[in-house]
Amino acid sequence: MLSDEVEVDGERLWSRLMSMAGIGATANGGCNRQALTDADMAGRRLLTRWAGEVGCQVRVDAIGNLFVRRAGREEASPVVMTGSHLDTQPTGGKFDGVFGVLAGLEVLETLQDAGIATRHPIEVAVWCNEEGCRFPMAMMGSAVWAGTLPLDTALALADRAGVTVREELRRFGVPTQLPMTRQPVKAALEVHIEQGPVLEQRAKRIGVVTGVQHMSRHEIIVEGQEAHAGPTPMKLRRDPIRVLAEVLPALYGAARERGEEARLTVGIIETSPGSPNTVPGRLRFTVDLRHPEEHEYSALRIEAERVVRSALQRHGLGGQIRCVWEAPGVTFDAACVAAVREATAALGLDALDMVSGAGHDSCNVAAVVPTAMIFVPCAGGLSHNEAESAAPADLEAGANVLLRTLLSLAVRVA
Ligand code: HGY
Ligand code: MN
Ligand code: MN
Repeated sequence: MLSDEVEVDGERLWSRLMSMAGIGATANGGCNRQALTDADMAGRRLLTRWAGEVGCQVRVDAIGNLFVRRAGREEASPVVMTGSHLDTQPTGGKFDGVFGVLAGLEVLETLQDAGIATRHPIEVAVWCNEEGCRFPMAMMGSAVWAGTLPLDTALALADRAGVTVREELRRFGVPTQLPMTRQPVKAALEVHIEQGPVLEQRAKRIGVVTGVQHMSRHEIIVEGQEAHAGPTPMKLRRDPIRVLAEVLPALYGAARERGEEARLTVGIIETSPGSPNTVPGRLRFTVDLRHPEEHEYSALRIEAERVVRSALQRHGLGGQIRCVWEAPGVTFDAACVAAVREATAALGLDALDMVSGAGHDSCNVAAVVPTAMIFVPCAGGLSHNEAESAAPADLEAGANVLLRTLLSLAVRVA
């Protein structure tokens, strides 16, 4: 069978996506497989079983990244890598991350079925804790693998209950004491749903992703004074909500100033003690900032920090704004992007160059390996939402672009 005849089995891919969606399924049709929960580990076990059935080896590194490996004729040659993540948001969908992992597995099985051998081994990575919702750093496992985040820092990350990444990995028998290693990689590709509306609006089937925008996550703490909601006169209160009431309009205004491309998200707002008739003694909220232009992103970040600090001063309250995580913008490797473009054209698919609004493990992988991404549309551009959905035909097309691109990079020898 010629390389340009081999195609993935879209039904098998869809069936696996639906089986995986059954793990951590929510009542509203989404998925809740947050990093290193029992559900996340059940998903990884299912993938490991499937990988074994396809004749691949599976290994796990010290930070819980999982690699499914299909041997190459030259086993010692650098790997061609693909993959994504299996962990989800609390109200995540069936396709974010999972599609990239299962499309990678589908490529391996398609090559197996067709008896195709490649010079380079091909590996499908399942990066640990991409979402960064349970543990406070996104794209964690790939950052440790790429060497941009120390292993011990990642292992010490704790969730809201104080449970650490280290404790959870050990609970699942992951050898966290092993030194981190990084296999030689020739090139890396990740296929993912777009998680935005552009491909659907422009009626394009494939996004040729040339890079990822700048992004960061900030935590704001405001210290007030707990007091009785009844007898305490308003002017005597040290009420942190007064700061919030002032800061939010200013933050949204700062984002508006930076144009249509700016992104500002307040995802968590919490007070303590959290009683309806006690003035809060403490306020904590998060702000996620993003922009594709570096100078606009920096200006937005500087303005956000100024707005918070000046409000704290005006109200005479203690507190701070702290950057808890940042992923600088990424430009993907021109040769890898060209390989995606070629595969897309060979398949006669309508494509569009685009920059990713969402962060992906490819941001970290690109720091050490030539990398590119492939997008497919998702309904209404909706993601990080239980209603997330994608058309089987689009998923199949994306998996075929991945197959073609991986085959061109891994070099078919039989
Ligand atoms: O936040 C992001 O962009 C990714 O989904 N973790
Ligand atoms: Mn994702
Ligand atoms: Mn996500």
